[in-house]
This record gives sequence, C-alpha cells and structure tokens, in this order.
Amino acid sequence: MSETLANLLQENRRFEPPTALAEAANVKADAYDEAADDRLAFWAKQAGRLDWAKQWDQVLDWSNPPFAKWFVGGELNVAYNCLDRHVEAGKGDKVAIHWEGEPGDTRTLTYSDLHKLTCQAANALTDLGVVAGDRVAIYLPMIPEAAVAMLACARIGATHSVVFGGFSVDALSGRIQDASAKVVITADGGYRRGKPSALKPTVDEAVAKSPTIEHVLVVRRTGEEVAWGEKDHWWHETVETASTEHEAQPFDAEHPLFILYTSGTTAKPKGILHTTGGYLTQTSYTHHAVFDLKPETDVYWCTADIGWVTGHSYIVYGPLSNGATQVMYEGTPDTPHKGRFWDIVDKYGVTLLYTAPTLIRTMMKWGDEFPAAADLSSLRVLGSVGEPINPEAWMWYRKNIGHDGSPIVDTWWQTETGAIMISPLPGVTGTKPGSAMRPLPGISADVVDDQGQSVPNGGGGYLVLREPWPSMLRTIWGDDQRFIDTYWSRFPGMYFAGDGAKKDDDGDLWLLGRVDDVMLVSGHNISTTEVESALVSHPSVAEAAVVGATDPTTGQAIVAFTIPRGSVDSEGEAGEVLIKELRDHVAKTLGPIAKPRQIMLVAELPKTRSGKIMRRLLRDVAEHRSLGDVTTLQDSTVMDLISDGMQSGK
Ligand code: WT7
Repeated sequence: MSETLANLLQENRRFEPPTALAEAANVKADAYDEAADDRLAFWAKQAGRLDWAKQWDQVLDWSNPPFAKWFVGGELNVAYNCLDRHVEAGKGDKVAIHWEGEPGDTRTLTYSDLHKLTCQAANALTDLGVVAGDRVAIYLPMIPEAAVAMLACARIGATHSVVFGGFSVDALSGRIQDASAKVVITADGGYRRGKPSALKPTVDEAVAKSPTIEHVLVVRRTGEEVAWGEKDHWWHETVETASTEHEAQPFDAEHPLFILYTSGTTAKPKGILHTTGGYLTQTSYTHHAVFDLKPETDVYWCTADIGWVTGHSYIVYGPLSNGATQVMYEGTPDTPHKGRFWDIVDKYGVTLLYTAPTLIRTMMKWGDEFPAAADLSSLRVLGSVGEPINPEAWMWYRKNIGHDGSPIVDTWWQTETGAIMISPLPGVTGTKPGSAMRPLPGISADVVDDQGQSVPNGGGGYLVLREPWPSMLRTIWGDDQRFIDTYWSRFPGMYFAGDGAKKDDDGDLWLLGRVDDVMLVSGHNISTTEVESALVSHPSVAEAAVVGATDPTTGQAIVAFTIPRGSVDSEGEAGEVLIKELRDHVAKTLGPIAKPRQIMLVAELPKTRSGKIMRRLLRDVAEHRSLGDVTTLQDSTVMDLISDGMQSGK
C-alpha cells in the first residue's frame, strides 16, 4: 500500500466543555499527566475505588505476553462491589433501576431490592448445583432479571455467557456448547414492537441439542403459554422463594467473570473472555470519568441491550459499581410511537444518555418534531458508541437532544477491550464532531502504518494499543492460538484492533471503521466512513452506506446506498436530480476522487442486530453477485427492497 488511509474530510467546528460542568467534573486534565507519569500507579489508584477482600501483590504481570494478569494476588467479589457495599453504606433505599416495560408497565428497584434478588438467585443457582467456575448461559429480554442473573453468577463465581435475545437456535446452542454451559436462564418471552416475542421455544430447541445443560430457569414475563420439560424451573418458584441471605465469597482478580461472543461474519464466533479485578476497575473508572457520573443526582440511561458488551459494562458493572440510578427500557424506540425515547428521558429526568449512531441517524430520519415534543433539558452529557458517528449526526444529536450545550462523548472501544478506551472527557476535552479525540488516561492507543511505525499528525493507518490495559480480553475461550493470531500477530508487541484511523493535525483521533471497509480507488485509500459522512452532511440525506465495487478502470469504485430524509421527494425525476446533486456534493466536500460512481436511493439499509451496517451484502449487490449469508440481519426483507430499487434503474 503506497499511500496511507485517506485524510479527506475537513472538520473545523469545535465545542468547549460548559464552564460549570468543567469546574465540577469528576476527572480533570491532571489525570492525563498522572497516568503518563506512572501508568500502573494510576490504575492501582483506580482499583482502589473498589472494595477488595485481599490487596493485590503486583499491579500487572506481563511476563508472558499477550497473556496479562492484573492485580495479581488480589481478591474481590464483583456483586459485593455492585450491591452490598452500597447497602452497607446506607444507600439501600436509593433507586438502582427505573425499569420501563415496552407496554408501559414499570418497576422500581432500589439497591436493597436488587441485592435481595441477587442473593436469592445466587442461592437458587447454588441449589441447582452451580459452583464457581461453571458456565451459565443467559438468554433474556431487557428486564431487571437480566442484571440480577449476571450479578448472581458473579456473586458465586460462575462465568456467565449472555446471548442476545434476538439470536437463533443455532447461535444459542453453538454458544452453549462452546462454553459447555450447565444452566440457561431465560424467560417465556419479552415485548418487542408492541407484542410478546417468545424466547422459550428457541431455548427448548437449543437445549435439545446441548447435552451439557442440566437446568433451565425461566422468568415469567409475558405470561404466554410455554412447553414445559424436566429441566425447566420457574424463576418465581425457585429464585423468589429462596433465602435473601447470601454471603459473597471473594474471588481471585483473574477469576473468569464472563464470556461474550463477538458475532463474527463468516468464521466461528469468538468467545471473548473477561476476568474480575481489572475489568471491574476499568468499567467502573471509565463510567465515572467519561459520563461524569454524580451518583446522588444523576439519572443515567444506556439504551443498549444487555446482550452486547455495552450492556455488560455500562448497564450492569460500571454503573452499579458506582452506585448509579439508571433507567432500563425493554422495548423498541418506536413503540407505541417514535417519541418513546424522549418521553422516557422526560419522565425520569435522564441526565446522562448513552446510545448508538445508528439510533441517532434513525431519529434524524424520523424528524426533529419527536424530540422537540419532550422536555430534554435534564440531559447534561450525551454518549455515542458502536460505529463512527458522522459529523452531521453528531451535530443533530447535540442540537436536537443536547439543547446545543451538552458535551458529546464519542466513545471508541470493543467487546475485546471491555471498557471505553478512546473518548473525550466531558469536563476537559474540547470536542470536534466525528472525532473520538484522545485515549483515556492510562491508555496508550496509536495509529501506525503498514510497517507498524507510528504515523505523524495528519497521517492515517491502523489503530493499535501499545500497552496492556486492565479490562483487556484475556484470551478467546478455549483457543489461545486464535487470540494470538487475531490480535497480536499483525504488529508484533501491539494489539491490532482491526480499525482504520487517522490523526488530525492536532493529533486527535478519527476512527474510520473496520480496515476491511477501506476502498482503494485509483490508488487512493478512501474510507467508507468519510464518504458516508459527506453524504449525511447533505440536508436531504438521513443515512448512507458506502462500499467499494470492483471497477475495470479504477480498481474499486465507490457505490453508495442512501436513505433520503422523511420529507424529501425522491421519486422518479426528483430522484435523478437528487442523485446528481449528491454525487456533486461528495466531490465538492471530499474532492473529485471520492465522487461515487453510482448512488442508489433506498428505503432501508441492511444492519446486524446490534445496528452495524453489513457492507458485505451491499458489496454483493454492487458487484451483481448473489447474496452471502443474511442470517444475522435484523430484518431480512431489506435486501429485497434494495435489489428491487436497483432493478428500477436507480
Ligand atoms: C467495533 C467494536 C464497543 C461496544 C459496542 C461495539 C466500532 C465502536 C466506535 C466509535 C468508531 C466504533 C469499531 C470497533 N466502534 N465504537 N466510537 N467510533 N467506531 O462493540 O461489537 O465489539 O464492535 O465497533 O469498528 O472495532 P463490538
């Protein structure tokens, strides 16, 4: 590769932290210096925010890279840190979870309530024969029992493996078998899009294929009829009748806390293993630092599902270890109407919101009137995670949700990193729309070229992490070699994240998406993210996905799939005019080299269930191939819509 990744998009807008927020911020600029002076001492100090049953002897053992051990010799209990210590400190009556069911039913759980339920679930699991080190699969909707199930496993030292409730029989049974799980915790179903959506039938089929499962614990949520087998136990008859007394035993800092499978588009999913002390240290610290959480006054809401790492780290472990009050919502954002999220913010007075670019762009498409109808003045910090956030989506988020004043923290991390790695600090960092800015204190991220050399400011290349961090994955479950090959072999001595990135002239970081999504057009590397951002910056565009299609003259050519905003006329002639305008707009914004060969106006984009665009399928369409595997699509009909659109000549 002769040239480095493109550096086309110019972004000059800057937003300084509000003065009052900056003055009262949990973490100030000196944290960067402190961590730079002595990284391990910095992390040891953050570990000290937790309650340890036994102090560690060594902060980091990196004698056998890439296998790290953090807080060697230390012992703690994760559930104790998330629950008991708050209750013991007199905060038992504080609300932990304001839960909102999709049909409108609600539950309020204080820290005492959550503690009692978790003790009961820990006792029930123990009675079912679960012991420390066993694996427990969790396949639940977004109900408080999901958090309780995870905490109960942590409390008894069982390793949980949460499987997203939208996944199929094969996905569930594959994950159960890979980890040899002994128990599954599930529900009859949950509510989605205004109706009950069953889970138990999927579990029944998966369990039939999974001989290691001894027991199935079933929460009753929808009340729908379910088939019942010998291994099944109702949660309300087992957990809710168990003793509320349970003493948490401390576990080694490196005790396996959970396995979470990354989806993996073609290959077998990777079971990412996280452990106890380092993971809790970094999720707890980053939640405190990046969201500036004030546990006494803030109301925090992360809209992710518990089946993703965001739900693990920033619904369960980070917020609860910090004693936060949070909102948990069961359902979809447009049930019963497109303003549901904003009604929830208004109702609970949410102050800190954490969501994903895909949702922000969907909200843009739906229109400004929905957020405008609710009182969002309580919001003081807005977070984004999961994909690069296009500058225009960032601006829309700031203006329409953050009343043009709340800082946006664009947080880069991965299932593998366990916790946020790159992000602004809301009271410190002046932000730029679309940039995740700087590595957090104690994190050494860099951008390197093909040879592994650090690129200068203004350059682009591959995102790497140079030093181990507390919440890093410890391995891929059962496959150390794959762990080494996937992350530690591309650049010796560095963790390869698989993302393209650039440093701007100030040294701030811009994430460009997966390396596989970089296009090579007439010898220039152009990132799909930058072209997408240019398209979304046009007032008629709500969402865009860009792929590189094989082209006889340019090697690859840029093909864009674009969703017009709700109010835009894009039929027939008007559509042709818009397409020409958009091609010219990209050429003007990024330069003629980035002008798409073809733009298609579509109604939807193919996304995974976690909201990531499946460019692989769009590439199939652009190159007139038959479609690859569509089983991980959120909505399998969207590909028909897209192919139909193409046939009509757009
Ligand atoms: C990949 C990791 C981290 C929790 C949810 C996703 C992309 C994530 C950002 C961001 C640009 C981002 C990267 C990364 N990504 N956050 N703020 N800016 N890209 O976890 O499913 O493991 O995906 O998501 O490509 O590698 P995941």
